[in-house]
Amino acid sequence: MTQSSKLLRDALHGKWALVTGASAGIGLALAEQLATGGANLVLTARRQDRLEAIALRLQGQYGIETKIVPADLADTAAPEQLFAATEGTGLAVEVLINNAGFGYYGRFAEGDAERQRRMVEVNCGAVVHLTRLFLPRMMERRRGHVMIVASTASYQPVPYMSTYAATKVFDRFLAEGLAQEVAEYGIKVSALCPGPTESEFHEIAGTRSQFGKGRQSAEQVARRGLEGLVRGEHWVIPYGAGKGIVLMERFLPRRFVSGMAARVFRPKAG
Ligand SMILES: NC(=O)c1ccc[n+]([C@@H]2O[C@H](COP(=O)([O-])OP(=O)(O)OC[C@H]3O[C@@H](n4cnc5c(N)ncnc54)[C@H](OP(=O)(O)O)[C@@H]3O)[C@@H](O)[C@H]2O)c1
Repeated sequence: MTQSSKLLRDALHGKWALVTGASAGIGLALAEQLATGGANLVLTARRQDRLEAIALRLQGQYGIETKIVPADLADTAAPEQLFAATEGTGLAVEVLINNAGFGYYGRFAEGDAERQRRMVEVNCGAVVHLTRLFLPRMMERRRGHVMIVASTASYQPVPYMSTYAATKVFDRFLAEGLAQEVAEYGIKVSALCPGPTESEFHEIAGTRSQFGKGRQSAEQVARRGLEGLVRGEHWVIPYGAGKGIVLMERFLPRRFVSGMAARVFRPKAG
């Protein structure tokens, strides 16, 4: 067993973890890594058929217990439904992984207003609501882990993905603030901040051309994120170049950085 596997196993074995956005990409990879560590899984996303297949496979492969709760997190009633289906039935969620989210690329003023509103709800509203529901139970038990998947997009404005980047800075600040608030209860909170990662994200957001090459695998991102969470890191950038860029940007005027980003992201004519 590698040192990393032992770390995850010691922290997670036998605990129930709720993973949002578990039907694809980073969420699926997080579920798989949690299963490797022996955690039992509550899996949620909208695509029930995928959740059923994933749950069956992980149960067979890792000998864990699973439960699926399909839900649309743009629906403000969904977090309560997830809480009722878990803590409400006596299933203690000791690891909460707020991963579900999506992006939207294009000129803000021309973009689909309803899609942007739903993005804020899924990326931010549902994260606040779920965390507010599950955290007090963790505080009573004086243990727990909460991950909020943010992004390297949370370290600077991203023109033409302005709303998305704003949701992700919200996520990172929420995680970093809560990490301080609940440390005294033995609860670890971490913001996972991936850069461009292999998943369905870019196709859905419409960003394929900007990030065609050099994406990190979802497995690497998930593994590094979970290691950071159990070690008590308040934020994790899962690749070296991303850490370097974020560090460099601290010493540059913000307007210069957002101007550079505008040049990279500006939609091509035609
Ligand atoms: N990929 C990247 O380059 C990258 C970089 C930085 C941060 N991130 C962040 O990583 C997280 C995961 O994204 P990903 O890259 O893994 O993308 P992905 O492959 O598109 O997966 C997104 C997941 O979120 C779920 N989801 C989307 N809308 C939902 C809704 N309304 N209700 C419930 N679940 C919903 C999807 O499931 P259903 O469609 O089945 O509902 C899916 O499981 C997101 O928060 C994203 O912002 C991604």
